[in-house]
Amino acid sequence: MLSQKETILVTNCLELDGFHLSLLLLKMGFFVIGIEEKQSNTRNKDMLKQARKLILEESEQFCYLSQSNEKGIKHWEGTEISFVVLFQKGDSTDINEQFITFLLESGMDVKRIAIIQGNAGQSHHLADAIRRWKEMRMEVVEVQNPVVRSKDRNVRRKVEDVISNIGEKIRNHLTSPKNINDESLDNKQTVVGVVGLGYVGLPAAVGFAGKYKVIGFDINKQRIDSLKMHVDHTGEMTKDELKNSCIQFTNEEAKLRDCDFIVVAVPTPINDGKEPDLKLLERASATIGRNLSAGTIVIFESTVYPGTTEEVCIPVLEAYSSMKEGVDFHVGYSPERINPGDKEHVFENIEKVASATNIEALEKIYGLYQKVLTAKVHKVSSIKVAEASKIIENTQRDINIAFMNELSQIFHKLNIDTYEVLKAAGTKWNFLPFTPGLVGGHCIGVDPYYLIHKSKVEGYQPRFLAAARELNDGMPEYIGNSLLKLIYDHQLTESEITITMLGITFKENISDMRNSKALEIVKFLQSHPFQIQVCDPHITNEQFQDEGQTTLRKINELKEADVVIFAVPHNEFIQMNQDTFRSLFKKQKSICMDLKGIISEDMLAKNIIMWRL
Ligand SMILES: NC(=O)c1ccc[n+]([C@@H]2O[C@H](COP(=O)([O-])OP(=O)(O)OC[C@H]3O[C@@H](n4cnc5c(N)ncnc54)[C@H](O)[C@@H]3O)[C@@H](O)[C@H]2O)c1
Repeated sequence: MLSQKETILVTNCLELDGFHLSLLLLKMGFFVIGIEEKQSNTRNKDMLKQARKLILEESEQFCYLSQSNEKGIKHWEGTEISFVVLFQKGDSTDINEQFITFLLESGMDVKRIAIIQGNAGQSHHLADAIRRWKEMRMEVVEVQNPVVRSKDRNVRRKVEDVISNIGEKIRNHLTSPKNINDESLDNKQTVVGVVGLGYVGLPAAVGFAGKYKVIGFDINKQRIDSLKMHVDHTGEMTKDELKNSCIQFTNEEAKLRDCDFIVVAVPTPINDGKEPDLKLLERASATIGRNLSAGTIVIFESTVYPGTTEEVCIPVLEAYSSMKEGVDFHVGYSPERINPGDKEHVFENIEKVASATNIEALEKIYGLYQKVLTAKVHKVSSIKVAEASKIIENTQRDINIAFMNELSQIFHKLNIDTYEVLKAAGTKWNFLPFTPGLVGGHCIGVDPYYLIHKSKVEGYQPRFLAAARELNDGMPEYIGNSLLKLIYDHQLTESEITITMLGITFKENISDMRNSKALEIVKFLQSHPFQIQVCDPHITNEQFQDEGQTTLRKINELKEADVVIFAVPHNEFIQMNQDTFRSLFKKQKSICMDLKGIISEDMLAKNIIMWRL
């Protein structure tokens, strides 16, 4: 709510735009001091009459002063002026600057300046003045006023619409929680919106809810409905955690207007051509832009290539909000490092990298996270640095795993066991402990393509990154072909071959099947005359069928198989005892494919042939 004390000083108050703005601000409940440089300047006599009638006589909340009336101004000494509205017409910068100096010297406390720009673009002169005002710790809000620029009478008639837009901006600035300081961050007054409540967004929302009021927004109505019932199908949050978090879950975008901070965690996938698909991020930015209140800080957490936030997201936010980043609202980027399914590294204890377009916003973002994390917040100098840091974390894993996958293929040719080699090499202090495996999902298998794309756009053709991607993407086919060779070499072709696939998600202990390489292996094998049964305790039949598959089997429903592929090391599989393990295989010669090196020798029986990556 506005307090009665909010005082706005409007210059040019007897000109067309200044007059209408004064009227509107009065209607909004502000106290208005109208200033006119010289009364005789007012061209429109009727309007002057109207002004006298409407504002000079009828409103007790209006005080009219001539700009040269030094004595009158002195009367307001010590008054806190929430906004001084200046009109920039022609190059009136000098006059405006002199006027602000005059107000300050007259003892007025000017907090903010709204500069209503009639000129196209901002002159250097004005930019310098704005910089000086900001140095004096005044907030400067720039608003475009197309009316004075247009020679079209129809446009000029729309003055009221334009003025109402300007009035709204001023009101938004005064009603929005822009001065988020350290104390207010503590007291649940701060409202944090989280856009996109998936594997990343939901744990973040729950984390923020420990300290702040949280609005969780998602376009997926089903997701919102189940979260309202405290059910998280990703399995990341328990019923109790959701119940205790008191998050306001919604798919009404207008709720975002109440937010001091908006954290964005929507997917950033690739398209069929393996190029970044930023549609969802752009759509989320448009939604936020439509509902952006002045002073809000928008923090992007989705993984993107360096430059995306500033080149793609900010322009969309500005276009949909008609506000200016760095002036009316602020943007930061803080990549998420959460590791779904990992109960040890969770939102609270993962160190966060934070960045923003300006120091003030960075400090607020730092404070926001610091209060909910037990881990440190690491500030970096630019958004691009933060974006790049996230993408190389995942690219580094991709490259290291690709190296292991290549070694595995070489060592199979040499007839030596990769794990034994790695164990031996690992006795050296600086050998990095990576292992071969499947790289699927929507992070490690996707993010390098973002960096590859940006690199190409900038004229550098990455070789190393691209080779790692090609290698890792080719693993399902390599494993499938290796199995065909094993079946042939061990002459298992007499009867119909049954294959058991243990695990179909893209990694262990989660229910996420996106870009699952285990599923790709199944699809590869399905083009051969095998009977394939899949067991995965982390997914539902519906999820499996959505991928064009039939029914899943529970562990105790599995038929004895000729081949068992340990694809995803879910806890349920790792904890299997020797009897259960052996009961998965036929009694005659059979094959165990261990893709993650989890099966120890003592589990095997004589009839089981072991193959591992
Ligand atoms: N999952 C991870 O392991 C992980 C880790 C770190 C970073 N990331 C990154 O975080 C981002 C989000 O990933 P995720 O795994 O949480 O995705 P997700 O698919 O699990 O969830 C995204 C959610 O966003 C919602 N959504 C999509 N468009 C929206 C919009 N316009 N407005 C509001 N909601 C919208 C979806 O309905 C969904 O609920 C991605 O950029 C990803 O690369 C993911």
